Amino acid sequence: MELKIALLPGDGIGPEIVGEAVKVLNSVAAKYKHTFNYQKALVGACAIDATGDPYPAETHAVCQGADVVLFGAIGDPKYDNNPSAKVRPEQGLLRMRKSLGLYANLRPLAVFDSLADRSPLKTEIVKGADFLCVRELTGGMYFGRPQGRSEDGNTAYDTCVYTREEVERILHLAFGLARKRRKQLTVVDKANVIATSRLWRQIAKEMAPQYPDVTVEFMFVDNAAMQIIQRPTHFDVIVTENLFGDILTDESSVISGSLGMLPSASVGAKVALFEPIHGSYPQAAGKNIANPMATILSAAMMLEHVGLEKEGKAIRDAVNKAIEAGVVTEDLVSAAGKAASTTEVGDFIAAAV
Ligand code: IPM
Ligand code: MN
Repeated sequence: MELKIALLPGDGIGPEIVGEAVKVLNSVAAKYKHTFNYQKALVGACAIDATGDPYPAETHAVCQGADVVLFGAIGDPKYDNNPSAKVRPEQGLLRMRKSLGLYANLRPLAVFDSLADRSPLKTEIVKGADFLCVRELTGGMYFGRPQGRSEDGNTAYDTCVYTREEVERILHLAFGLARKRRKQLTVVDKANVIATSRLWRQIAKEMAPQYPDVTVEFMFVDNAAMQIIQRPTHFDVIVTENLFGDILTDESSVISGSLGMLPSASVGAKVALFEPIHGSYPQAAGKNIANPMATILSAAMMLEHVGLEKEGKAIRDAVNKAIEAGVVTEDLVSAAGKAASTTEVGDFIAAAV
């Protein structure tokens, strides 16, 4: 197969971890006789530095012209405590999601048996946890307008908006994904307080009869935050709005032992985007210590998305081998082990493919 891949390494550790994923992809291409063509583009703080725009038109064109996008991370500390910065790297990511029509963010969480003891939660609680969080990605408070400040600067406001169409398309996707898994769907909302949540709940109830084989439950987001930690094995597919999904997926990542393990896919219109759920980890940039596994597993999701199932599985198996061999970065290394570098982990996985 010939595949056009847009590479958006971004900021911080982004270039290092995307570099390792490319190494692994090249090894897959050689073994399974595929041609992967890469085209690089700028996004985030590096794009602001080069062009003044965190998501330049040229980057958008590269993404639109590709079959899939592999993205690293964005963010730079020079913007973090500077609320008055006019352009921010995050705006690039949000515009990219919106303009590419990526309305669904799929964040799977699975605990690798051999890493269960690395979780800060008790091993018997996390063992066997395996769920998928479907986060709505282009609506809600992130994009609702008006957003801003009163003239005197002393009042600020955001708007949370959802339309029936936006809610239906994400729920259809989540019901369909539940159908392919253990057929349990948890709709997370705050319908006791928030109007958009009441719309979500109403629409989910209307749609449920179309999916009679899927069991639906409703859970308030505060309770869900607690249940995810207390009994993570309860969940199969969770579907929720943008901001709740942002928060719950960072929380969920802790269960697996490291934020450095979790991949994600953003889908919607023609082109799909794959990225680790972690950020740009600027303190580690250039040190060859960051965990590349989340990005490598994102590349596996990317191949599966275009129908290359056995190639995706080959990457997953190779990641498992690295974990079992103890070839892991410092976030995962056991007390007795020695941490491997980013490039050592990438080399091992590329060879194991
Ligand atoms: C994420 C990130 C982004 C988000 C930020 C960087 C805008 O936290 O992908 O989860 O809030 O969506
Ligand atoms: Mn987040």
